[in-house]
Amino acid sequence: MSVPVRKAVMPVAGLGTRFLPATKATPKEMLPVVDKPAIQYVVEEAVEAGISDVLFVTGRAKYGLEDHFDRLPFLEQALEAKGDLDRLRQVREVADLADVHYVRQGEPLGLGHAVLMAALHIGNEPFLVLLGDDIIDRRNPVLTQMMNARAQHGGSVLCLMEVDPSQIHLYGCAAVEATDDSTIVRVTDLVEKPDAASAPSNYAVIGRYVLDPRIFAELERTKPGRGGEIQLTDALRTLAVDVPAGEGGGVVGVVFNGRRYDTGDKLSYLQAVVQIAAERDDLGPSFREWLRETVQAWEH
Ligand code: G1P
Repeated sequence: MSVPVRKAVMPVAGLGTRFLPATKATPKEMLPVVDKPAIQYVVEEAVEAGISDVLFVTGRAKYGLEDHFDRLPFLEQALEAKGDLDRLRQVREVADLADVHYVRQGEPLGLGHAVLMAALHIGNEPFLVLLGDDIIDRRNPVLTQMMNARAQHGGSVLCLMEVDPSQIHLYGCAAVEATDDSTIVRVTDLVEKPDAASAPSNYAVIGRYVLDPRIFAELERTKPGRGGEIQLTDALRTLAVDVPAGEGGGVVGVVFNGRRYDTGDKLSYLQAVVQIAAERDDLGPSFREWLRETVQAWEH
């Protein structure tokens, strides 16, 4: 019987340099997308997929994030005193979303190193890794699909998205072969951020992973790779290529073709804000009307 996935790891120790100066003292994961910080969408996605335990791997200046997922008695009392029960419910709900834990990365040695920090908390069970830069539209329950793929195939599961070859240098890239199931491919090779000329495919790895706990042993052995960092992609390559299926090896990919935003990139961040605002029941109608008029005015 397959072991269920209960825990999620979210590395949030990055410096957020692409968003300076906004991220000088505020974690990039806390930048608002309409009225919630980006990371809250990611935690909600995990919770909707049945995860109840979240471990943040943090670095410096992450206090804002810790406060966000905690109870805040003085704020709750103030809202209660004002009778603002709707907002009171919202701030309480964030604190109750999941059982939240923290571990500090200490040195920024790469995504693989961040995941290795979770070893003690995770133990010997499969787990999720979600990268906070990626917001996935909630109409695409890709995590559930990925956990089903793990139950069926064992090993680890990646979320793959076909990108324009000119973009592949921004991602981990997977060589794949078809399986009997048209929605799942077998990963035969992985390379971190290849240039377009040497990329084995245009399948990009996006920030959702189901990992077999065997990854920890491989991360221990993984030498610094691209950018001098310990790369998760390199340890996953070993699982895909060298480790037998019965020993925690084997990697498959779920091909994602829904909507996803990279909130670590300025243009994509703006698109996320506009799209999510436009689709909200409360803001959407007047925001869309304003947007339509504004775009028309630009075009004249
Ligand atoms: C990380 C991974 C990369 C993956 C990407 C997805 O890179 O190293 O393999 O494709 O996330 O967003 P980063 O974007 O942190 O540089």
